[in-house]
Amino acid sequence: MTKTVLITGASQGTGRATALLFARKGYDIVLTARNVDRLAKVANEVRSLGVSALAMGTDVGNPSRVEYLVQKALEFYGNIDVLVNNAGICLR
Ligand SMILES: NC(=O)c1ccc[n+]([C@@H]2O[C@H](COP(=O)([O-])OP(=O)(O)OC[C@H]3O[C@@H](n4cnc5c(N)ncnc54)[C@H](OP(=O)(O)O)[C@@H]3O)[C@@H](O)[C@H]2O)c1
Repeated sequence: MTKTVLITGASQGTGRATALLFARKGYDIVLTARNVDRLAKVANEVRSLGVSALAMGTDVGNPSRVEYLVQKALEFYGNIDVLVNNAGICLR
């Protein structure tokens, strides 16, 4: 069975790079962030590497949206093998 990784904050930076890394290793990818336009571009980059991507706009500060995300990811792929809980902001 193909393995699946769920990556929060996947629309840029470390999250995007991690998504491309897992895609190269053959994982299907669930991508999430708030900005769906940026997320869609990363999803297309992932798909161009030959794996499946599910992109869903989610604010991880909203528990009901996170529950919805996980429910939809499980419906779509049947399993989530790895969570990369990366979304966040850096306060200086
Ligand atoms: N870069 C560093 O030097 C550094 C150092 C220490 C720790 N970190 C941590 O490592 C992680 C990645 O850093 P980065 O530099 O790659 O950050 P980044 O380029 O700013 O990317 C952050 C990602 O998180 C998403 N995001 C932010 N708030 C969110 C929310 N409430 N719900 C869902 N998605 C959210 C952003 O997309 P949207 O805005 O579209 O939601 C974006 O995809 C962050 O948690 C950061 O705090 C980074």
